[in-house]
Amino acid sequence: MTPAQTPLISSDQDAFEAIVRDSCHVRRFVDEAVPREDIEHMVGVATSAVSACNSQVWRFIAIQDRKLISAMQAAVLERFEQLALRPGLALQEQKRMVARAQALLFAKAPLCIAVLATPHDSPMEELMRLSGITQEEHDRLCARPELQSAGAAVQLLTSTAHAMGYGACWTCAPIVAGERLEQLLDVEPPTRLVALLPIGRPAELPAAHKRLPLEQVLSFR
Ligand SMILES: Cc1cc2nc3c(=O)[nH]c(=O)nc-3n(C[C@H](O)[C@H](O)[C@H](O)COP(=O)(O)O)c2cc1C
Repeated sequence: MTPAQTPLISSDQDAFEAIVRDSCHVRRFVDEAVPREDIEHMVGVATSAVSACNSQVWRFIAIQDRKLISAMQAAVLERFEQLALRPGLALQEQKRMVARAQALLFAKAPLCIAVLATPHDSPMEELMRLSGITQEEHDRLCARPELQSAGAAVQLLTSTAHAMGYGACWTCAPIVAGERLEQLLDVEPPTRLVALLPIGRPAELPAAHKRLPLEQVLSFR
């Protein structure tokens, strides 16, 4: 048996499952800087995630500069002001407030990790692109491997942060201001900002959300 095939001993497995099953999403953080070596460690583990064709299409920007975070916050607020002017959204004040609070979480933590993903031409994606289909069809047929790959890395990152005693929150809502945020972060197309992860020592116990029972999510054929 090669080392890669060695099963986890049960205590390792128990510890792994405890971290994964425990809720790690925190929305209030202690005002305490996250040391650079801790950031390097959590991102280092995240990069052991699988990716389509081992493309490793993810990139991470660790943001602790408060001026930059304030500029990002202003960009998200401005976007919500623009959205409020849309006829269909003018009366949706309650919904806008909830979404805005979710989108601004990144500014409430001492560390914000921006997650970037770059589309990668796998043989299948190249084939589909050459076939002349629309972008929409391409996305449906190829299922956005770069987003799936980035998601795998984000899950590992948040779980590792949790194992290190940090809280994190995976957020996509701020991407509503994606273009402006990408400018502030010097992100060039085709690379895209896909998530912001506020991270810090938790100032609250994470809410324990129930998961669906197995019989509702798993079927056998
Ligand atoms: C792809 C994705 C996007 C998310 N976006 C946001 C977000 O923008 N704002 C937020 O507050 N939480 C966000 N979350 C966190 C979820 O709301 C959270 O995981 C869910 O409420 C379950 O909570 P739990 O993980 O603590 O059990 C996101 C989670 C995922 C996986």
